[in-house]
Amino acid sequence: MPRIIVENSSPLRGTVRISGAKNAVLPIIAASLLSNDKCILDDVPMLDDVEVMCEVLVSLGADIKRISSGRIEVNSRDIDNYEAPYELVRRMRASFLVIGPMLARMGEARISLPGGCAIGTRPIDLHLKGFSAMGAEINFGHGYIEARADRLRGERIYLDFPSVGATENIMMAAALADGRTVIENAAEEPEIVDLANFINKMGGNVKGAGTDTIKIEGVDELTGANHTVIPDRIEAGTYMVAGAITNGDIIVENIVTNHLMPVIAKLREAGVFVEEVPSGLRVYAPERVNSIDIKTLPYPGFPTDMQAQMMALTSVAQGTSVFIETVFDNRFMHVNELRRMGANIKIDGRSAVIQGVPKLTGARVKATDLRAGAALILAGLVADGITEINETHHIDRGYIDIEKKFQNLGAKVYRI
Ligand code: EPU
Repeated sequence: MPRIIVENSSPLRGTVRISGAKNAVLPIIAASLLSNDKCILDDVPMLDDVEVMCEVLVSLGADIKRISSGRIEVNSRDIDNYEAPYELVRRMRASFLVIGPMLARMGEARISLPGGCAIGTRPIDLHLKGFSAMGAEINFGHGYIEARADRLRGERIYLDFPSVGATENIMMAAALADGRTVIENAAEEPEIVDLANFINKMGGNVKGAGTDTIKIEGVDELTGANHTVIPDRIEAGTYMVAGAITNGDIIVENIVTNHLMPVIAKLREAGVFVEEVPSGLRVYAPERVNSIDIKTLPYPGFPTDMQAQMMALTSVAQGTSVFIETVFDNRFMHVNELRRMGANIKIDGRSAVIQGVPKLTGARVKATDLRAGAALILAGLVADGITEINETHHIDRGYIDIEKKFQNLGAKVYRI
């Protein structure tokens, strides 16, 4: 099995370029199903999760060409299958994002029910409630969900929680529905705005994305479009923490500063210097960071996808930090692994108390999910000795060229 080896690498220096956002490109590839014309997408990070989403579309009958590094062409003209099979949905929950566009364009979709996962139970009830409200008939059987509707009709839909996936799925379904859909208590993440921009380039009519009320006027058909995916704010945040934890001085390029405000605010509170420079953000931390408290929340609150990395940082901070995870019900799997490296962390339900220690020690650990894996690399950068990270496939779901990008910053991160 491949492993990632990390050696003590303080301090990091240099520049890292951030890739296109995984969580923006996945729904955008799914949205290409809404049109029977070609869509060209740029700054696509060819991550394992992106490969799975492409395989899902190909299994439905789409044709996907990799034109050059970062550019793909999706042609959904010849969709001839309604089913996303267990083998693919099992590999990536976000495969479920094809149900909205399939239902809207083909009137039918059959998708394996995604199971629980390493970060919590993750139901899909809000997606299904939205489709039902829009007139879809939903049935369950043999581990699959079947959804049917001759034509979805616009509706007013209130989400009990601002779910990112439910907002995206309903927005895509509504793009071709009859009449106006209003999503209230919608998710406001930058990835939602990117998806809305893509749908609008295809000839759709989506307004209000980025606020808690999104209005979608359904159209009869959508055309092809060209779109460049937004930069990945979580990849950016991860490298910013790498600069901070190693007392380094780095520049993070190809970012949207506004998308990073919750992360920048917490880094500054910890005593890290974050400055805008013409190419992006300079992050430097001359001294050991201070403890900080974090509560994860839907955007514009602090992102749950940065919680594990910030926990690695506060593991070596001066003082005691308290983290509360409100988005997922089981997202502290990294705590046991960080403890193996000498971190002093106690968990009580959705809260974690992190008593900073002066030094971590390298150990054999495993990536329990994507962001947990990133946190272990960050911890390994400042641990004495060697950290060996197993189950690296989780890390490859969301970080492109991770060891190369770290090496360019002077870090000793290798894959064996
Ligand atoms: N939820 C429900 N019912 C639903 C949908 C969600 O109860 O029908 C709950 C979930 O169980 C969870 C909470 O709502 O407790 C948030 O889930 P959400 O639907 O917002 O998340 P998601 O769409 O499944 C996306 C990202 C995640 C990120 C979350 C929150 C993608 C492909 N995934 O997931 O990314 O953590 O939003 O920001 O966009 C990652 O990149 O590491 C990652 C896990």
